[in-house]
Amino acid sequence: MEEVVNIINAKVWLRRKLTEAGISIVGDRIAKVGKDSNLLKANRVFDAGGRVVLPGFIDVHTHLRDFELSYKEDFSSGTAAAVAGGFTLVLDMPNNRPPTTTPEVLKARIQKAEGKLYCDVGFYATPKSPDQVRDLANSGCIAMKIYMARSLDGEKYSTEKEIFDLIKATSSFGITLSIHAEDSKMIRKVGDAPSPNLHAKAHPVKAEENAIEMAINATRRSHGKVNICHVSSLNGLSKIKRAKEDGVDVTCEATPHHTILTNEVFQKFGKIAIVEPPLRSKKHTEAILKGISDGDVDILATDHAPHTLEEKEKAQPGFPGLEIALPVFFTLVKDGLLPLHRVVDAFTIKPARRFSLDYSGEIDVGRTANFTIIDLKGEKRIDQENFFSKAKFSPFNGMVVKAGVYATFIRGKEIFLNGEIVSPAGVGKVIHGKICR
Ligand code: NCD
Ligand code: ZN
Ligand code: ZN
Ligand code: ZN
Repeated sequence: MEEVVNIINAKVWLRRKLTEAGISIVGDRIAKVGKDSNLLKANRVFDAGGRVVLPGFIDVHTHLRDFELSYKEDFSSGTAAAVAGGFTLVLDMPNNRPPTTTPEVLKARIQKAEGKLYCDVGFYATPKSPDQVRDLANSGCIAMKIYMARSLDGEKYSTEKEIFDLIKATSSFGITLSIHAEDSKMIRKVGDAPSPNLHAKAHPVKAEENAIEMAINATRRSHGKVNICHVSSLNGLSKIKRAKEDGVDVTCEATPHHTILTNEVFQKFGKIAIVEPPLRSKKHTEAILKGISDGDVDILATDHAPHTLEEKEKAQPGFPGLEIALPVFFTLVKDGLLPLHRVVDAFTIKPARRFSLDYSGEIDVGRTANFTIIDLKGEKRIDQENFFSKAKFSPFNGMVVKAGVYATFIRGKEIFLNGEIVSPAGVGKVIHGKICR
């Protein structure tokens, strides 16, 4: 007999709203959702204490690193940070050392990750050329990602034609292509270790706008599907919105930092706040916030990008995000700046649908029992010292937040509870792309 666990005394996200209900879990699946008094007879009861139970959160943009970059983050530390941040599934980005550009490297990542994960992980890969899409897809990646302005392993996708040819290949396998959209022609060279202001000037809005326009044109002409990573500007988002209205199959992500941090934080945080695309002015953060509110931003993603403090002094772009994203976005909900359903959808059903991760994403009978249980009472300060990530710094450090993660359930078991990881590594599984299943 499989164990029956009941989650009681909860507000559960059902059919796009919160309902007072309980959940019966049998094994790793949801067996019943209903009034606490109508649940199955349980071996164990988890009292949610009136908290909000959401579908397990998905982050489609995590840099887990490992291998030669294990000093920045590894599969265990990165997925520990993920469950502490309420995520039950993350997609790992390909700009690794060695880069995830060949079936061999992809398979080695999958193999090494097994047994080390606290949450589920799917892998991104970057094809060196369109004719390598098939082999990579058959090796188990979930999605593919390109950087228009740099090369991981000799590949080049900086023109509309090059992107068009690639989308033809990815979409013939039903794969969503994610794009870091910055036009290399518009990015200015700066010396080593530029100041955050100089770095931001070198990555102008126009670089994002041009790149997004090329990506959209390639998507339109190829009839493929594309996801624009971390959109950071009014101009970029407007182009995406218009393309969708024209029927182009393009979606986009926004990060917590591009939603609420402006270049004013450079004063306080210095090079810690350097990221690509860079933090911009209030006009742009307001546009991203409105885009999330209106549903023009499809997916919320962390762009969790750990480095060492020495590397940050050398202006390496990025900072950890897994442990601040949920508190930041639910604080915006509590403050009346974002509707609850937009934030929940953008972390659950929307990424699940876009990347064919539909074993998760919704609370319903028969689905995998992955849950993110959040606390919406009280206030606390973000404290980088408490991060499970190896990267213990953040331009959100010290910010007062009004929401937090209480518990993270994966396949029916609590992995993170009340500030602690309560399960050994290995509960997380590698999720393979549909094509090889
Ligand atoms: C990312 C990283 O460090 O890997 N850095 C960043 O500033 N976002 C790379 C990326 O996603 O572009
Ligand atoms: Zn597989
Ligand atoms: Zn990027
Ligand atoms: Zn990234």
